[in-house]
Amino acid sequence: MTDHRIPLAGVIGNPVAHSRSPDVHGHWLKRYDLPGHYIPLHVEDIDLEQVLRSLPQMGFAGVNVTIPHKVRAMELADFISDRVTLIGAANTLTFRDGKIYADNTDAYGFLASLRQGAPDWNAAAGPALVLGAGGASRAIVSALLEAGAPEVVVANRTRSKAEGLRADFGARLRVVEWVTSGDQIADMATVVNTTSLGMQGQPALKLDLSGFKRGQVVTDIVYTPLMTPFLSEAKSRGATVVDGLGMLLHQAVPGFERWFGQRPEVDDDLRRAILG
Ligand code: ATR
Repeated sequence: MTDHRIPLAGVIGNPVAHSRSPDVHGHWLKRYDLPGHYIPLHVEDIDLEQVLRSLPQMGFAGVNVTIPHKVRAMELADFISDRVTLIGAANTLTFRDGKIYADNTDAYGFLASLRQGAPDWNAAAGPALVLGAGGASRAIVSALLEAGAPEVVVANRTRSKAEGLRADFGARLRVVEWVTSGDQIADMATVVNTTSLGMQGQPALKLDLSGFKRGQVVTDIVYTPLMTPFLSEAKSRGATVVDGLGMLLHQAVPGFERWFGQRPEVDDDLRRAILG
């Protein structure tokens, strides 16, 4: 039987009001003149399973998942992608034939953003430095390894968490103490901040940034402000910088395509719409 209902998708979180996903998907629905709605859904932990089982019956094609449900969503899914296994969390669920398929699109979003913002970037050109060892870091480390980085160096305030990444990602990952000398950065082809440091209202990223130089590609997951002090310093020393908004926008692409049947563009129009 053909389903003639208007396709629905949304984002599940707690809180969810801060999520930019409804703006991103809403922009694309309008832009491509597609029937459909994308709805923010505030869901308590205790209700998550019931909600995920009910949504397909209500006509939902899928949902994005944000804090704090990314790990539990993975556990509740019927099928999980290799990427979800590697990262240990899901951010994109698709409902099909009564089953839940879980994916994590953060690694895709990271790579697509770098390739758009720094077209000459080549992961294989040299080692990458990743600051932080949380969920975003795991996605980015997996992306960098897959893209061919010869080595990924991880520095985190809590060293044991970085050691956990090494256990999961293997020999091409090296753990170092927090970066205190400019030389450590100078050796890198790619540098990524995956911590919330530098975000509006958060402490600054404390690091010796004197090693930044031309030829490096530097990016941040923080996008408020777009030009973090970290990126600004890298830029002033000649590095190519890519802001964090791109990853947020690109990670939404695979879900939109699966649920609404159109591969959407990440362009300046969208960036302007999201920045308001
Ligand atoms: P996300 O899913 O966005 O990666 P997370 O899992 O909470 O969020 O991870 C946050 C990262 O930012 C961690 O690497 C964290 O370091 P710890 O593992 O030591 O907690 C890092 N971070 C957050 N606040 C920090 C601070 N004030 N100084 C240094 N690192 C910080």
